[in-house]
Amino acid sequence: MPAVSPGERLLVALDVDSAERALTLANQLKGIAGGLKVGSRLFTMEGPELVRRLVDSGARVFLDLKFHDIPNTVAQAVDAAVRTGAWMINVHASGGAAMMQAAARAAADAATAMRRPAPVLIAVTVLTSMDEAALHSTGVIRPLFEHVVALARMTQVAGLQGVVASPHETSAIRAACGKDFSIVTPGIRGASAGQEKNDQARTMGPAEAVKAGATYIVVGRPIIAAPDPRAAAQAIVDELASA
Ligand code: C5P
Repeated sequence: MPAVSPGERLLVALDVDSAERALTLANQLKGIAGGLKVGSRLFTMEGPELVRRLVDSGARVFLDLKFHDIPNTVAQAVDAAVRTGAWMINVHASGGAAMMQAAARAAADAATAMRRPAPVLIAVTVLTSMDEAALHSTGVIRPLFEHVVALARMTQVAGLQGVVASPHETSAIRAACGKDFSIVTPGIRGASAGQEKNDQARTMGPAEAVKAGATYIVVGRPIIAAPDPRAAAQAIVDELASA
């Protein structure tokens, strides 16, 4: 597994509806969260200016926009994402090897042009909202699990640094892709992340997910909806540190 400290592992999903709320959370979580995830809703409302403000406040930003388009368009989108200062960026692996290679080249070139370290570029394999029947209905007929692992390997061969995966897929991906591949895992519940499942079905606790192979865990509501987000995040980091 890449060398990542317990404090760096926790990525907090800023699933809120305004820049003001996002910046308040960023301030509350300063020095505790290893990264802050900005998804397509917040980005569509508040744009790259919010990402720049978060970066300027010292946060590492995971820009979770899941690009999926022709290689040239994805390369241009990745270039634009790197220029916001984002630390982690993602695309859909199902866009194919050529698309991912173009994304990887664009990430490296933009980082060089900005004299910054290259971002962590990762791919979504199969959305965890899809079950095997939904996958098969798209024309992919191999077993879902096999497809996830094959897409993870394709991502690695294309030169990306990791994938997003459900907690139950991490150990197979870790076995297939080796210790230096980053695995980013949402669906974290239980133990210090609380018992409220919201709409997450197949979950794991923070330390359990890392033990199963996750490099980073993504936690949203157990932190952002807690009465004291900082204390909720600290409890999770403490669990990771003592595991
Ligand atoms: O609030 P919660 O901890 O469930 O938030 C998890 C975050 O991870 C959300 O931003 C959600 O969109 C994202 N995510 C997920 N499952 C995936 C991919 C992303 O829950 N397979």
